[in-house]
Amino acid sequence: MRTVSKDTVTQSFLDYISEDSDERLKFVMEKLAHHLHDFVRETNLTHDEWRKGLELLFAAGEISTPERNEFVLFSDVLGLSSLVDMVNSSEDGTPSSVLGPFHVLGAPDVPVGGDLIKDNVGDKIVVGGRVLTTDGKPIKGAHLEIWQTADNGLYSGQDEQQEEYNFRARMTTDADGRYLFSTVRPAPYTVPDDGPVGELLRATGRHPWRPSHLHFIVTAEGQKTLVTEVFPSDDPYLDEDAVFGVREKLIMEYEKRESTDGLPDDLAIKGELDGTFYVVDFDFVLSAA
Ligand code: BEZ
Ligand code: FE
Repeated sequence: MRTVSKDTVTQSFLDYISEDSDERLKFVMEKLAHHLHDFVRETNLTHDEWRKGLELLFAAGEISTPERNEFVLFSDVLGLSSLVDMVNSSEDGTPSSVLGPFHVLGAPDVPVGGDLIKDNVGDKIVVGGRVLTTDGKPIKGAHLEIWQTADNGLYSGQDEQQEEYNFRARMTTDADGRYLFSTVRPAPYTVPDDGPVGELLRATGRHPWRPSHLHFIVTAEGQKTLVTEVFPSDDPYLDEDAVFGVREKLIMEYEKRESTDGLPDDLAIKGELDGTFYVVDFDFVLSAA
């Protein structure tokens, strides 16, 4: 099209896409062009606003490193990462939630009942449950990758005081599909806000806090991999997670206890637990692949 107007530019763009292109790519590009062009038409976007947006993207590139991807963070605080999770989450299994940037490979294998507290301080919690199919059958040999912050709200890797794999573990479920470990209560923390994402949050009057959570990746043969996180029901940021990761089904109760009566015998620190601690019971349901 030689003469392009604000009303015809979208079609003009679509006409440029080759008929031989991949069907899905064509579909996604068509939707993208419609929504992006409508966004400009509906907002009457000014040159200054458009330039500011591009400056934010440029700054995101400048501050990004292999360990810190500011584009992912933009996606997180805009609700995009969570939306992609939600449209791809299976209805019948445990909902998925954001992976975040703090997962690392190579965490040590910890047996069912193992301890992650070691020398760390904080409220002690005992977390356990089962990995199940959607029919309620226990899955033996499912793998759980577990990671969380220390009591100070920092992950190992962010905090020189913590050993490399502090509060990180890989666990394999037993014959009854059980997992179990002792740890400390993780703390709420802020997403990195010293870059362009922080600038956007401040400009829109938003805070960078996430409710405390335990991260899990659960895998099992024949089942869909589940990337998720679980949140305590009393966290002050539950209704205002900066990255929109909370789902009703991912909220767990921390049950206060003073006695170890009834706790499983394979809990390694059972004999050493004294004073107040908390018990968390949470099952993961994996849908079929
Ligand atoms: C996290 O939960 O680790 C996380 C998720 C999104 C952005 C920053 C951190
Ligand atoms: Fe996290």
